[in-house]
Amino acid sequence: MVLISTDISKAIELLTAGELVAIPTETVYGLAGNIYNEHAIRKIFETKQRPLLNPLIVHVHSVQQLENLVAEFPEKAKLLAEAFWPGPMTLLLKKKAIVPDLITAGKETVAVRIPNHPVALKLLESIPFPLAAPSANPFNGISPTKAEHVAAYFPDSLALVLDGGQCTNGIESTIIGFDEGEAIVFRLGGISLEEIKSVIGEVSIKNKNETAPNAPGMLAKHYAPKTKLFLVEDLEQAVHAHKGKKIALLRFTENTTSIPCEHEVILSSKGDLKEAAANLYLALHNLDDLSVDLILAERLPATGLGKSINDRLERAAKE
Ligand code: TXA
Ligand code: MG
Repeated sequence: MVLISTDISKAIELLTAGELVAIPTETVYGLAGNIYNEHAIRKIFETKQRPLLNPLIVHVHSVQQLENLVAEFPEKAKLLAEAFWPGPMTLLLKKKAIVPDLITAGKETVAVRIPNHPVALKLLESIPFPLAAPSANPFNGISPTKAEHVAAYFPDSLALVLDGGQCTNGIESTIIGFDEGEAIVFRLGGISLEEIKSVIGEVSIKNKNETAPNAPGMLAKHYAPKTKLFLVEDLEQAVHAHKGKKIALLRFTENTTSIPCEHEVILSSKGDLKEAAANLYLALHNLDDLSVDLILAERLPATGLGKSINDRLERAAKE
């Protein structure tokens, strides 16, 4: 039986013994294990039913701890780290030999980030090893933003979910790699493109699945509810087109036009993209539990975090 608890010492005990613990971060909950313990890392892949080809993100508490793991730290990576860590940004950096190949799926780079969550940071500072942690959901499922989501996913295969409350940012970290020192965004996420550009200037974007076939967060279908989901430009028209079906709506903000439907969730009544991102997965979990025929999601404005949210909704909508 899985225990939901705020007991950090219990988490330290389990992780030190090579067991897994689900941990809170500011983005989503992670399924964490000691990067140097092969048993723990294999268990992460097994528990998630994740193919071994898909590398894991390593979580550290400081740049100092990170320096043990990476062979290169390009200038632009340093600027980004200074600007956004701790925070929802993951950097792909050339790894040192000490990082096990199982973590990186044989790649030369390791994905690393410093999470901005007091419980995660306290835990990382209390143990002598970094934590590998993919999002704590079964492969392709909706990422968990509450301890209860994780417990419902893994009722029997996990001992502890360390409870850190609801995740404040809500969608996964932005993933950035480097080619000859130039930054490439591989996954849109909690740090917007505008924010990145304000620190290092123009960046290229390779956020499409065909450029990263072995990266699940970049797969065409991912982050998906079990209920069929359509991402639409015009909700009213879409509701009309699906007349007779039980429909739930996922709307960005308060709207004067009310549309007849079974259920409706509003991501941010004041139209704030940050708040919408924080509420996205909770809304999808809740809508998925309603047993409606379909979810119609409204496309958000394509600025700031709106782009990251649209990216997740596009993948959730894929056949
Ligand atoms: O916000 C987050 O990033 C959360 C929290 C728990 O930190 N973690 C997360 O992990 O979203 P995961 O495993 O669900 O997504 C990590 C993505 C995957 O698409 C993986 O393929 C990619 O990062 N990735 C990891 N290491 C990589 C590497 N060396 N090169 C390219 N992609 C990599
Ligand atoms: Mg994931």
